[in-house]
Amino acid sequence: MRRALVARAREVGATLVGVLDTVASRAGALDTAATLVSAREAVATLAVATMTVATMTSACSKDRPATAADAGATSAGGAGATRAPDASVAVAAPSGLSAEEGRALVRGACLSCHSEEMLAQQRLTHAQWTKTVTKMVAWGANLEPKDTAPLTDWLAATYGPNAGAYEPAPIGEEAAAAELAPLPDGPFANGDAERGRALYTDRCSGCHGPEARGHIGVLLVDRPFLYRAPDFAETVRRGRGKMPPTAMTDAEMADVLAHLRALR
Ligand code: HEC
Ligand code: HEC
Repeated sequence: MRRALVARAREVGATLVGVLDTVASRAGALDTAATLVSAREAVATLAVATMTVATMTSACSKDRPATAADAGATSAGGAGATRAPDASVAVAAPSGLSAEEGRALVRGACLSCHSEEMLAQQRLTHAQWTKTVTKMVAWGANLEPKDTAPLTDWLAATYGPNAGAYEPAPIGEEAAAAELAPLPDGPFANGDAERGRALYTDRCSGCHGPEARGHIGVLLVDRPFLYRAPDFAETVRRGRGKMPPTAMTDAEMADVLAHLRALR
């Protein structure tokens, strides 16, 4: 595992150097909005890459007994047999988390990077969950050592080979409508569309297109989420998929919304 992390860190480092080269090569020609936007994108990528390196580095410095963990995960067989050799999960811990306790741990440790649906679709054996959780902890999952074994047990019991077919949670007509219903603007009211246009051009148009009709990013014109300002703001601030997080004040968010609502 240690070797894999170092290799991965090296890869990310190489990407980072490439990004820096791109920024440097464009530094002489920073006179158009488009160049600024792509330089900004490159810097955002760089920030993500740096974060990854930081996670990897701290994972390496933990110096965990990787071979024991790997051995535990690959040896087939029962739960006891797989957990015994791994010092990091051998802590005597009460097993049998309730559904709420299990989900609370997952929320704290896993949902910063994954959707609950992705986890619910897994059908892994106890040995496979042990290996996965160990790997995720090395990658920075926020999990106390004492919670590692109980969470692994809970995941194996809940999303194990016998868990049955995965059924996406059914969404009723009412719930579907509620997902699209407008929300009060709150702190995102009364934006200025002109200021919003400038902000949009600077920070969004590189991906969503000059008229917000979609490019790398999706169409933003005439979409219901424009009238769900708090959700919109959260998506932009947290980022999603290929969209990196963007820090914006409530007032700036209001301005961008006013601009996008005015587009037809
Ligand atoms: C810091 C971000 C991060 C956190 C936190 C995290 N993961 Fe992951 N996880 C990843 C990444 C990145 C991958 C893809 C890694 C790979 O391909 O080996 C992954 C892969 C997985 C996979 C394999 C999915 C697949 O189909 O490839 C599972 C299962 C998983 N994680 C479960 C968990 C669980 C359970 C937790 C919480 C204990 C967790 N992860 C926490 C980043 C994270
Ligand atoms: C680096 C490219 C990039 C930049 C910059 C970017 N976006 Fe995105 N955006 C995307 C992509 C790609 C998606 C689709 C994400 C997904 O769901 O996988 C997306 C999705 C969104 C969504 C969700 C749409 C939906 O269907 O729910 C909103 C809202 C959004 N972007 C707004 C913005 C705003 C506002 C800005 C500027 C402050 C911005 N984006 C900047 C790439 C970008």
